[in-house]
Amino acid sequence: MKIVSFKDPTMVKAPDSQFETAVKDGKGKMKGFAGTLSDAQIKEVVSYIRTLQK
Ligand code: HEM
Repeated sequence: MKIVSFKDPTMVKAPDSQFETAVKDGKGKMKGFAGTLSDAQIKEVVSYIRTLQK
């Protein structure tokens, strides 16, 4: 399994909606966080991931 860095250009260009869906519903080996995190919290997490890409 290949894990792509958040700093990879494809991830920098990916829309927020892609990360929101991955966090909410899961992706690959990662389980979804729907029910654990609210939609608002998921958006906050995506904002945090954006700060890691700088
Ligand atoms: C709240 C905590 C977490 C957040 C915010 C988060 C966020 C993300 C995001 C945004 C991606 C990228 C999806 C994409 O390619 O568009 C991702 C991928 C991934 N995450 Fe997480 N993650 C979290 C927790 C975890 C945990 C606990 C695990 C370990 C079981 C995990 C394992 C993975 C793996 C393996 C991928 C790559 C999936 C693939 O491309 O097949 N994540 N995560």
